[in-house]
Amino acid sequence: MAPALLILLWATVIPRADLLPDKKSLLLPPTNFTIKVIGLAQVLLHWEPNPDQEPKNVELGYRVRINVPQEEDYETRNTESKRVTVLHQGFSASVQTIPWNGHSLLASDWVSAELKAPPGSPGTSIVNLTCTTNTTLNNYNPLRPFQVSLYCTWLVGKEAPEDTHYSLYYRFGSSTEECQEYKKDTLKRNIACWFPRTFISSRGSDWLAVHANGSSKRATIKPFDQLFALHAIDRINPPVNVTAEIEGTCLSIQWEKPISAFPVHCFEYEVKIYNTRKNYFQTEKMTTNTFISIIDDISKYSIQVRAAVSSVCRQMGFWSEWSQPIYVGHDDQKLSTEWFLVVLMATICFLVLIFTLICKIGHLWTKLFPPVPAPKNSIKDFFEIVSPEKTVSSETEIEVISYVEEPGLETLEDSVF
Ligand SMILES: *[C@@H]1O[C@H](CO)[C@@H](O)[C@H](O)[C@H]1NC(C)=O
Ligand SMILES: *[C@@H]1O[C@H](CO)[C@@H](O)[C@H](O)[C@H]1NC(C)=O
Ligand SMILES: *[C@@H]1O[C@H](CO)[C@@H](O)[C@H](O)[C@H]1NC(C)=O
Ligand SMILES: *[C@@H]1O[C@H](CO)[C@@H](O)[C@H](O)[C@H]1NC(C)=O
Ligand SMILES: *[C@@H]1O[C@H](CO)[C@@H](O)[C@H](O)[C@H]1NC(C)=O
Repeated sequence: MAPALLILLWATVIPRADLLPDKKSLLLPPTNFTIKVIGLAQVLLHWEPNPDQEPKNVELGYRVRINVPQEEDYETRNTESKRVTVLHQGFSASVQTIPWNGHSLLASDWVSAELKAPPGSPGTSIVNLTCTTNTTLNNYNPLRPFQVSLYCTWLVGKEAPEDTHYSLYYRFGSSTEECQEYKKDTLKRNIACWFPRTFISSRGSDWLAVHANGSSKRATIKPFDQLFALHAIDRINPPVNVTAEIEGTCLSIQWEKPISAFPVHCFEYEVKIYNTRKNYFQTEKMTTNTFISIIDDISKYSIQVRAAVSSVCRQMGFWSEWSQPIYVGHDDQKLSTEWFLVVLMATICFLVLIFTLICKIGHLWTKLFPPVPAPKNSIKDFFEIVSPEKTVSSETEIEVISYVEEPGLETLEDSVF
């Protein structure tokens, strides 16, 4: 028992001795670590390699740990790092020196730095900030044929005084702009903003950073930052020039890509065909600009198309609105008059049948039409209507109303006559 324990102890002690900090294996922490705000919701982390590090020929890297606002770890060989991040809660990070190429050296101690959260009374910052972008044609600058507008709305903080004046800014890439067109609430506090033109490129992959601060005589207004991914807030325009035609049983629909900086191959579409007579929807997804459907039904169709930027070009976002409905196919009016005629004919036949039956049952036959010699063959006619004028005008020429269904009835009629 004792030797086994000794071996175990030895085994655990040996590697420990190997790891003991000695001058050769210990890495020194970086120096002069600073965090600097270089833009709206953007910081630069910077540090220097430790000048006393020995040996000099070892490849070194750094592990960066973001502590606030959100924990995150990453490694780099650079001595600086740019971060896009919200700053209203402050920012704090640490960095240590690490061996780069799998050296068995120990990582250094951490060095830390922080940015204090900006001052402000709790509950005074804006809340529920939402932003959307959309694209319009830019008729003024052929070099930038599309322009992106930005619209943001928010709610006033619960503790914000009545005289609070909020200001909103956005940053995209290196461009920052302040809002010029605010919408106000009843107390004349800004609650929405409209940027008709921005520096946002809808095909860009940068974050959109939005910053709102404010001023008031009665309180320090806490600023607020939020980052938006473009694909999640971009409202795609609906497809344009939707046309449809029916040839025989073939319904073909065509459209063009929406007004957008994205090229044709970036879009996917959904077509909605509504059969107005059957009150029936059919929707189809596709990536082409044409859709052909075989229809077996005479009806009026309403057709709408919507678009989305597909994952080929960017992360899937929202579907656009449906395009204005266009209509093809037969008019309902024409169809209903046809149906009216059919129903009318059926009613007439039915009435004639009922009338004949009543005549037979009530023995009215003989009372109404005393036996008159007449040619037998006329009885066989299917529908013949007595013309009262004719009976009056000419006594010799008498036609008899008769409804004969089976040859068997003929004998009955014979016996009546
Ligand atoms: C680092 O900071 C020290 C003083 O804290 C300063 O003397 C030195 O120049 C700095 N080094 C660099 C590379 O900025
Ligand atoms: C604002 O956001 C909070 C949660 O962040 C939510 O509970 C609340 O319903 C929102 N208010 C409005 C008016 O949207
Ligand atoms: C873009 O959005 C704004 C605000 O939401 C709206 O007024 C405008 O009509 C939209 N433009 C297009 C082309 O949809
Ligand atoms: C609000 O933020 C902008 C942009 O960061 C800044 O220029 C401005 O001084 C700030 N205003 C207040 C009142 O803090
Ligand atoms: C839509 O059709 C009109 C007229 O045919 C044409 O002038 C216009 O360029 C088309 N729009 C697009 C986006 O192709």
